[in-house]
Amino acid sequence: DWSASNIIQDCIESARAQVGDDHVILGLSGGVDSSVVAALLHEAIGDQLTCIFVDNGLLRKNEGDQVMETFAENMGVRVIRVDAEDRFLSELAGVNDPEAKRKIIGRVFVEIFEEESKKIDNAKWLAQGTIYPDVIESAASKTGKAQVIKSHHNVGGLPEGMELKLLEPLRELFKDEVRRIGLELGLPAKMIHRHPFPGPGLGVRILGEVKKEYADVLREADAIFMAELYATGWYEKTSQAFAVFLPVKSVGVVGDNRSYDYVIALRAVQTVDFMTATWAPIPYDILANISSRIINEVRGISRVTYDISGKPPATIEWE
Ligand code: XMP
Repeated sequence: DWSASNIIQDCIESARAQVGDDHVILGLSGGVDSSVVAALLHEAIGDQLTCIFVDNGLLRKNEGDQVMETFAENMGVRVIRVDAEDRFLSELAGVNDPEAKRKIIGRVFVEIFEEESKKIDNAKWLAQGTIYPDVIESAASKTGKAQVIKSHHNVGGLPEGMELKLLEPLRELFKDEVRRIGLELGLPAKMIHRHPFPGPGLGVRILGEVKKEYADVLREADAIFMAELYATGWYEKTSQAFAVFLPVKSVGVVGDNRSYDYVIALRAVQTVDFMTATWAPIPYDILANISSRIINEVRGISRVTYDISGKPPATIEWE
């Protein structure tokens, strides 16, 4: 008989039995899986858990503050927030290639995670939000080494020289079960029903070279898009939605003046498995409102487009 509270009790008991008096570290991304692990382990072992949240400067608007508010302030989870925007952006300077950007973001994340982990006394365990579909996937691809940081960066390898044992309390659960547990543990529904967000974040939603100026503009446009999707009920009707920054300039007219500013593309898709996807048929009046809000409220944007490409042949992300 499956009930969220039974599963939680089982997970708590087995985590306690495994960990004993040791300390556990967890890379918290703000995504559903790592969030539920944090909430679960907080119940199970309290102060024996330390979460590390790396702000890479490529997060959505207010994302870092929201993670801190939910976990540190409201729940009393011990969370170390690392503000690493400058470090990520300086490593990304001059880099245009999407895969090169992904590699850099992944590498710097691991470096920072390693540095922070070393500061935590008695850390013997690395907790991860691995869920059952991840287990199957890595078995199928045969790349599933026992030690994989399933961070939001999907980077392989534990911090070098650290001998941490893996703690994967969600390993036997499907996504909908993880969500039910998360709600039962008191996580906000909005957090539990979030669209997936890629590890490289805005790093692959700013085409070509990543600059702080671009990221700041993109964050504002994306926040307007998200707010309107929530307000119109379209967030739940889409599987993933986001704004993309195009570093090309386009002419516009503002009042009596000519403007010459950047372009934002809006992407919203519907999919079951993210392997194929169709573009979401968001009504024209809603798109019109989003477009005019972005152009009027976000300085530096003169034009908004809507992406009507399916996957395949296009991918969901633009890079
Ligand atoms: P694509 O663009 O390949 O995306 O159609 C499919 C799903 O994967 C996500 N995605 C990523 N997630 N690191 C991640 O953690 C990445 O580098 C990455 N690239 C794409 C994408 O957001 C979508 O949900």
